[in-house]
Amino acid sequence: MKQQRMIIDTETLQQTVCDLAERINAAYAKTDNITALVILEGAKFFAEDLLRQLSFPVQVEYLKASSYRGAVRSNGTVDIAAPADVQQNIRGRHILVIDDIYDTGRTLATLLDWLSSTQPKSIKTCVLLEKKIVHDKPIRVDFLGRTIDDVFVIGYGLDFNGRYRELPYIAALTP
Ligand code: IMP
Ligand code: MG
Repeated sequence: MKQQRMIIDTETLQQTVCDLAERINAAYAKTDNITALVILEGAKFFAEDLLRQLSFPVQVEYLKASSYRGAVRSNGTVDIAAPADVQQNIRGRHILVIDDIYDTGRTLATLLDWLSSTQPKSIKTCVLLEKKIVHDKPIRVDFLGRTIDDVFVIGYGLDFNGRYRELPYIAALTP
């Protein structure tokens, strides 16, 4: 039986998203042709709340990327499902990548490599949570929500074996 320990409550989450939106709005105030690239499944809840607070027109695209296979530890392989229409739609645009969590960094590093090959105008990254660890693949996060300890977390889109995504807070899952 696993136990939950709340680490970021709903109010703090909302404030974090609000602060992120403010910084992103300032950064893109003078930019056109912006595409938000939401990394499924984990970033879905976060991205929906964030996108609603943006003050500029944005095209939204979704990509499926995952390095987890129902395990608490990353197995190291990263899958990116990038349909041809998404590739077509991001060419020549300013891309804001929205992801849930920066753990080993493999997912984002693989994605950013792939992204640069699709010839966008610029790439920036927005990540809700960063684990306080030495990342296997360090990447640049332009807009970071919060830093957390190296624990497995659930809620607000983050899952364990497909469960707990609907929780309105972030909790650590302990055995
Ligand atoms: P990375 O490639 O190791 O940085 O892992 C990134 C992806 O793994 C995230 O986008 C999440 O989908 C998933 N992930 C990493 N850590 C956690 C966690 O603590 N809880 C749930 N999913 C996680
Ligand atoms: Mg993810």
